[in-house]
This record gives sequence, C-alpha cells and structure tokens, in this order.
Amino acid sequence: MSGITKSFPGVRALDGVDLEVRAGEVHCLLGQNGAGKSTLIKVLAGAHQPDDGAITWAGETVTLRSPIAAMRLGIATIYQELDLVEGLSVAENVHLGHEPTSAGFVVRGREAKASTAALLKRLGHGEIDPGTLVGDLSAAHQQIVSMARALSHDVRLIVMDEPSAALDPDETDNLFRIVGDLTADGVAVVYISHRLEEIRRIGDRVTVLKDGRAVAVGLPAKDTPTRDVVSLMTGRNVEYVFPDRPAEEPVAEPVLTVRDLSRSGEFAPLDLDVRPGEIVGLAGLVGSGRSEILETIYGARRPSSGTVTVAGTALRPGSVRSAVRAGLGLAPEERKAQALLMLESVTRNVSVSSMSRFAHGGWLNRAAERDAAHRATRDLSLRPDDPSVPVRTLSGGNQQKAVLARWLLRGCKVLLLDEPTRGVDVGARAELYAVIRRLADEGLAVLLVSSEVPEVLGLADRVLVLREGKVVHTSRAQSLTEHEVLDLVMEGAPA
Ligand SMILES: Nc1ncnc2c1ncn2[C@@H]1O[C@H](COP(=O)(O)OP(=O)(O)OP(=O)(O)O)[C@@H](O)[C@H]1O
Ligand SMILES: [Mg+2]
Repeated sequence: MSGITKSFPGVRALDGVDLEVRAGEVHCLLGQNGAGKSTLIKVLAGAHQPDDGAITWAGETVTLRSPIAAMRLGIATIYQELDLVEGLSVAENVHLGHEPTSAGFVVRGREAKASTAALLKRLGHGEIDPGTLVGDLSAAHQQIVSMARALSHDVRLIVMDEPSAALDPDETDNLFRIVGDLTADGVAVVYISHRLEEIRRIGDRVTVLKDGRAVAVGLPAKDTPTRDVVSLMTGRNVEYVFPDRPAEEPVAEPVLTVRDLSRSGEFAPLDLDVRPGEIVGLAGLVGSGRSEILETIYGARRPSSGTVTVAGTALRPGSVRSAVRAGLGLAPEERKAQALLMLESVTRNVSVSSMSRFAHGGWLNRAAERDAAHRATRDLSLRPDDPSVPVRTLSGGNQQKAVLARWLLRGCKVLLLDEPTRGVDVGARAELYAVIRRLADEGLAVLLVSSEVPEVLGLADRVLVLREGKVVHTSRAQSLTEHEVLDLVMEGAPA
C-alpha cells in the first residue's frame, strides 16, 4: 500500500501511509488509540475506499471495491469488532459470503458443517459444535469462529485486528501456534496489538502509525528497544508505571459487602468486602467466573444464594435498578453490545446514566450536560476531543474510554470494572490507572477484573485469586508476584 489517504468528516484518519507486507511474515501494526490502524486495514480489506494512494498485490495494481473483491484475491480480515451474525449458526457464519461452487451448487448444509468442523479442529477448538448459534458462544469462541471464516477461503494474507484482546494466556498460545502454521505455509499476517510483548514473540517487522502517518516502517520486531517503539507511538517517553498506593490502609467501614453469594454452575459462595478508597482485584483465567461475579453483584444475573449490601442498603437480588440506585456502577467487558449507544454522540453516551442531574422541570440543560461529559472525557484523553461526534466513529480504545467516562461522571460509590484497559494503548493506560486511583483516593470503592496479572497486582490493594469459580487465595497485592498468581490460577495451591 502506498500513499494511502482516507478522510472522514472532520478527521483525516490516514495521511499518505505506506505499508509493505511480505509473504510468510508477521507484520505488526502499532499505534495509539485512533492512530488509524483499523482504518488502514479496512482499506486493505475493501471495506473502505481510499481517497488517494495505490494498492499493489503480487506486483499488480488493484482496486478493492468490496470485501468480496479482497477475499477473492486471498485477503481475509478478523475485525476488532467481530462482525459475526449472532442469530446464525457457527457453520452458517463460516460459509457466509461464499459463492456457489463452479458447478452452480451452493454448499449443502451437511458439507458446510463438516468443513466447518474440520476448520475448528485445525484451530484447536474441535469442541465447538458447528450447529451452535454464534450468539450463545463466549467472546473467545466467537473469535475462533471469525478465524475459521477467514481460513475457509484460500487465504494469502490474513489481518488480525487485536485478536488477543478477548483471549487468556492459553488461548493466546493457541493463536500464536496458528499464526506460526500459517506463516510456515507462506501466508502473510498483519497483526495489530497493544501488547508489546506479543509483538516481540511473534512479530518479524513493525510499522508504527501516529496520527494517520507511518512514523516508522519495517522496524525489526524483536530487536527494537521498547523505549524507542513507545516514543515513536506517543511522541514522548511514557513510563509504564502504576500510581502510588495511599500510605495508610483504608479504615472506613466497607461500602460493598458480599456474603455467601453464589450461582450454581458458575461460582461458589463468595464473601467480599470493599472499603471506600480501596481497589480490590479479581485475578483468574477467562471462564473462572470473574465476569459472572461482577454481573451478579450488579444484579444483571440472579444469584442462587447470598446477599449484596451497598452502604448499608441490601440490594434486591437480580435487580440492576436497585443496584444502580444504591450507588453501584459497572463498566462491562463487552462494551459494544452491553454498554454503548453506537449511533448517539459521545456526550449522550457519557451522560446517559446521569440524566436526572441535567434535567430540571422537564428541561434538559444541554450545555451543562455537554460540559460535564467533556470534562470526564478529557480526564481520560479521549480522542477526538469533541464529544459531539457519534460513538460509532471512535476507535476501539476510545469507545472503551467513553464507557469509563460515563461512570466517572455518574459519581457512584462502588465501581465494578471488567477489563478496563482492553484495547487501550500504552500511553492512555497509565492515564487510566491514575484516574482510577484518584477516584479511589476520593473515596470510591473499586472492584477490578483483569486478565492481565501485572495490571491487577500493580493497581489493586488487595487481590482475590479465582479458579473455576472458587476463591483460592486472598492477600495484599504487594505480597504476590505474577508467577505466584499464575501458579494459583493453574494449580489452585500456593507455589
Ligand atoms: N466511520 C468513521 N467515521 C468518522 N471517523 C472515523 C470513522 N472510522 C474511524 N474514524 C476516525 O479515524 C481515526 C482513526 O481510527 P481507527 O479506528 O483507524 O484507529 P485505531 O488506530 O484502530 O485505534 P484503536 O487502537 O483505538 O483501535 C479516529 O480519529 C477515528 O475517530
Ligand atoms: Mg482499531
């Protein structure tokens, strides 16, 4: 790709970007949230038409008028926002967009199922039934289906936009094995991730985007110092540091009290206290019950037993309304489906849970709404710095910030955070950590779930380690190491 330019109303997302990818290599695309990575690969996938620039494929200049045109050349994409149809089965999704065979026969249901089963097996997930509805699968399994769909065509180049964001370490290893198999067959892989250690592991070369321009092209992935990569991305030296913990342990009475809470088949009876000013982390693998615990505390799932009390008020089991009224907030894991009004402005998305604050006697004070939302998004350096744009047009990481800004504005007593930094770039992560700690210092109680063990250990005061729905260990964050936590989640016993 050379000189690729693409503007949206009011934004130049790409400004003359060059990208060169070789057969059999893993080419990593790095850049902060909103740098233009997803836009570039959508141009490559035929989903966006560039305003200017040329694409050369195997020596010939090509125009990719549609995703089908790109697919015919052998270019497949796994998007950051998975684009599967939830109401269709796994096999139907995998074969969606396939053309009838040359003889004019559409692939029949049984063959579609058999070939899908074979692909899933090759991807290390033979246990997924091709007949299951995609909407019933976990995020990680949906990712695998998306990959099966990409591989169901004769692919020469496969683009993966933050594929590991929804995966735990085991599944990431599986993904890397697949990437290794593909490149050994001469398939080119374009890999987007905010996790630099992944890029070191599987990358060959790196292109860095900043504000719609390529600021470095074809750097060696394994030998370029992290400091250099980060300063190319951010234009400054960001230290990956966690905010200081308060000198003294919080002494106030717990504001969140959970007693004997359980859901059969999901997690065992759990006791938990969080005090104002305290950040408590839940560590564990995907599937260990972490998100289910948060959602049950929040009332989105009905518990089999137990109680949740917020600031002295016992919550009605299975009632989100009662939880929110008592002062609970949840920033969920699947933000697109669960949290965002994609067509509405950033302002409205941020203010939606605090509407009563801006409505008086039937009037909505729009100026106050906008200013308050703007302050919250600015605290998180959300880009673009214009809350009137629709959330749909934000980059993935900036959408995450919009969800968080909503809860910052709402001013709840207890904030439940599920994977708050998923998809957030390294620069903004440090800012986000600082904001979370500042809110705690101001008296908020935080319950944090993250797949990234260093994040839980660095940010939380106290950590509960979960394994298969059971708390297997509780201690202060400072007295645990990453290695010990990984041992605990695997074995369930202290190392
Ligand atoms: N459909 C659209 N309409 C308007 N603006 C858009 C649209 N798609 C992207 N943009 C803007 O283009 C810029 C680049 O966005 P892009 O999604 O490519 O970023 P990214 O590098 O993938 O970021 P992230 O790491 O957060 O996923 C952003 O400013 C974004 O707001
Ligand atoms: Mg993106």
